[in-house]
Amino acid sequence: MGRTNATMKRILLFYLSLTHEIIGIDASCQCIGYEPLIINVRSSQLSASSVRNDNYFPEQSKRTGNGWCSDTPDNPLQSYIEVDLMEIKNIGGIITWGKPRQDQFVTSFSIKYRADEVNTWTDYADADGNTTLPGNYNQDIPVLNNFQENILAQYVRLVPSNFTKSPTVRWELLGCAEYIHPCSPQDIDPESSVQGITSENCIRARNNLIRLHYTGLTTHLNVIKFALSGHSLICKNYFTTFGIEMKSVACKVEYKMCEVTEVDGKCQALCNLEQSQVGQPFNILLMIIGDDSTDLCMVEADLSPLGPRGRSVIHDWDAFIQKIGSV
Ligand SMILES: *[C@@H]1O[C@H](CO)[C@@H](O)[C@H](O)[C@H]1NC(C)=O
Ligand SMILES: *[C@@H]1O[C@H](CO)[C@@H](O)[C@H](O)[C@H]1NC(C)=O
Repeated sequence: MGRTNATMKRILLFYLSLTHEIIGIDASCQCIGYEPLIINVRSSQLSASSVRNDNYFPEQSKRTGNGWCSDTPDNPLQSYIEVDLMEIKNIGGIITWGKPRQDQFVTSFSIKYRADEVNTWTDYADADGNTTLPGNYNQDIPVLNNFQENILAQYVRLVPSNFTKSPTVRWELLGCAEYIHPCSPQDIDPESSVQGITSENCIRARNNLIRLHYTGLTTHLNVIKFALSGHSLICKNYFTTFGIEMKSVACKVEYKMCEVTEVDGKCQALCNLEQSQVGQPFNILLMIIGDDSTDLCMVEADLSPLGPRGRSVIHDWDAFIQKIGSV
């Protein structure tokens, strides 16, 4: 597909943690596909500190609405728009617009969120601890703020902090629709497969073998490319085996092998899915045969739904939604 290793984005990461001398894998799942949340909520799930007049009700804050504005436009910090997502969602970013075709928009804002009614509100902050997000620079072009780290929240508030003409805003939250659980502790048999941690985040071969099992992956493409990095890996099919589970009958599991080659010093596995597996959860077995110095530090896939962290401008809404939703 002409994509180079440089464009390969890290998505399948796994972290080792050593607790009580038992090696475990932190099964923090990776999001590989997003969907817009606010467009689909009922009006009753949106609320606000106040409304300017009947034209600016909270439900107008959907992308397709006219925008929400409080009755304290000169003191926007006192106002907020809030959504109740009805359950805890894993949220990767926020998109904002101004009032359609009118010169009114929020130029900066902050986000507060909480997991339930009992918890206190948490302020979203970027890596520098800055809680102010850059907003829009005109009324119509959507701006995405891709969060530093995904947040887990049922309730989310947008608090305007600065604006042009009037703090009118439409918004959208991007919720994780598809997950990968890179590895879970039960996938790893510490006795037979993993001996110890060589350096941060690396798995060392035991008895010259590393064996990992990824479960519940999904993709809408029929080819996935993985890149493996580590030490003393041999990028040939016998030594580095990547297989997609095809069927299991009793305790016999059949895997279809992915083609493994060396690209830019990393082992690359090219896996072809059957048409019937596209969009369905599937499992992958990774087996590495090495020696005493072999370790595996990272597994990456070329999936990066939201793009770079921080603010970016969305020029083509339909293409954007398609891109973030299908990996
Ligand atoms: C925080 O971010 C906002 C929006 O990008 C920016 O205007 C502001 O200067 C930043 N504040 C600090 C202290 O870096
Ligand atoms: C708000 O934005 C205006 C320009 O749009 C700027 O002049 C003003 O300093 C900003 N206020 C704050 C508090 O950042």
